Amino acid sequence: MPDVLISENISGPAVDALGSKFNVEQLPELWKDPKALMARANHCRALIVRNQTQVTREVLAAAPRLIVIGRAGIGLDNIDVESASKAGVIVTYAPEQNTISVAEFCIGLILSLARMIPQANCETKRGQWNRQSSVGTELYGKTLGIIGAGKIGCLTAKRAQGFGMKLVAYDPFVDPDSVSFSELNGELVELEDLLARADVVSCHVPVTPQTRGLIDRNRLKRMKKSAFLINTSRGEILHETDLVDALKNQTIAGAALDGRASEPPAANELEKLSNVILTPHIAAFTHEAQTRVVRAVCEDVSRVLEGKCAKNAVTGWLHEQQ
Ligand code: MLT
Repeated sequence: MPDVLISENISGPAVDALGSKFNVEQLPELWKDPKALMARANHCRALIVRNQTQVTREVLAAAPRLIVIGRAGIGLDNIDVESASKAGVIVTYAPEQNTISVAEFCIGLILSLARMIPQANCETKRGQWNRQSSVGTELYGKTLGIIGAGKIGCLTAKRAQGFGMKLVAYDPFVDPDSVSFSELNGELVELEDLLARADVVSCHVPVTPQTRGLIDRNRLKRMKKSAFLINTSRGEILHETDLVDALKNQTIAGAALDGRASEPPAANELEKLSNVILTPHIAAFTHEAQTRVVRAVCEDVSRVLEGKCAKNAVTGWLHEQQ
């Protein structure tokens, strides 16, 4: 019976190192079948997941020997952290190991929307040579609005400032004196104000009861007609049908979505629109970030299994991450 169960696609030298000390079972498709997950989890002491394995109260109850869950990433919305704590199970994660990659991806999406790079690429590959329909927008002098001024929000803003963008931020939890926020010299504003002023709105918040459905019809209406919306956090923070309407009616100019409420998503209207860029939750997927994420989580799982303290055990995660 395994000590460590890995229920998603997680591999690399850090997993091999874990395997040299413990009995590790890798079942990358297991997350798709909750019953099979519960059966396999019955004997394991550690469970390592990404964002697709739903670690519910039922799964925890089915794993009486479990002492540690390793989440290979930042978001903890797929893990019932409260039930895990009550059951004495440590949850460890990767609070910053992929943040640079996500911030770089945000900048890629902003540039892609502003300069219509995906459309131009598709048209050119179809044999067209449409220069006039590809006249874009400069970022220089425009305003970036970050919803959530945590690690990823601040790293994205820092990079956007390299393009000469101004910064407004909304975050009821940010410490305005924190070094990462202060050095950006941005303006902390109310959400409605940010939506009205920003040329690019970029979302960097976890899913909580307060953020679920945060970007809805009314908030989209507050945005400039020329503005772009970027979401590299969780799909649940926006109303997809409201966004479809806003994009169809050109209430806003465009959007780029990396995470979706259901992954993979059922085909819907978004896929048919030309002013939206859709990617399959890959903002954190670089070789560098994944090496760091998997190493951090595997090393912490190893520490806990050896009776030592985890370095990245979850505490107060709702307001700290992203
Ligand atoms: C994260 O939460 O770290 C990213 O969204 C990537 C992931 O979920 O694997």
